[in-house]
Amino acid sequence: MELTQEMSTVEVKGFEAKHYDRLMDLITLGYYPFFIRKAIKDLGIQQGDKVLDMGAGTGRNAVLMRQFVQERGEIIGVEIGEEMQEQFRRKTAQYSNIKLLNRRIDQFLPFKEEFDLVFISFVLHGFIQPKREIIIQNAYQALKPSGRFAILDYANFDLDKAPWPVRLLVRTVECPLAEDFIRRETKQMLYSHGFSDFEEHYYFGGYIRLLLARK
Ligand SMILES: C[S@@+](CC[C@H](N)C(=O)[O-])C[C@H]1O[C@@H](n2cnc3c(N)ncnc32)[C@H](O)[C@@H]1O
Repeated sequence: MELTQEMSTVEVKGFEAKHYDRLMDLITLGYYPFFIRKAIKDLGIQQGDKVLDMGAGTGRNAVLMRQFVQERGEIIGVEIGEEMQEQFRRKTAQYSNIKLLNRRIDQFLPFKEEFDLVFISFVLHGFIQPKREIIIQNAYQALKPSGRFAILDYANFDLDKAPWPVRLLVRTVECPLAEDFIRRETKQMLYSHGFSDFEEHYYFGGYIRLLLARK
């Protein structure tokens, strides 16, 4: 089966978008808030860091990252979903150093060597491979020399050997692009764009990974 971008459900809309955070909490039986706090702590963000959040969603992650960058740092969320943007603005309104950019991450982005960290959470799996390459290229260009790219997403594993709840989630709830992402070597993808010095953190029994790589 040939994979096309039209098969993707990464552009979250309507009911799912309006209730996105609550749905994540529900699907994970209430574990999501603990997991995401841990994952964002594992990013190792320093006070004053400038962070680019690609496909930023509701702003939940931006608010958590704000605790680490504090007043001196800055977070720019890039997001195209209307419902997501609305929630992002509401959640982050009290922070003058969190900004939102309405732009596609799978097309050229205008940033050059500006960020200490580029973060992409549960977004990259939802693109066909040529678009993933554009997104990774955008991240590379946006990062300062020695800046870090952080991908929080599915790990790479043999889906056929995974327990049935994982197979069910990936093959029925997710779009077919997720299975394609899981099968590929994400580290190799990053390496071919010039990233190195990998660091990995695993969650949910090893099926979800935070992959950090340095420019
Ligand atoms: C699965 S959600 C993840 C949201 C957030 N990163 C999180 O972890 O909670 C995917 C997000 O990517 C956004 N998105 C999808 N395609 C995009 C694109 N081409 N450019 C920018 N944002 C995009 C969606 O609107 C949605 O908010």
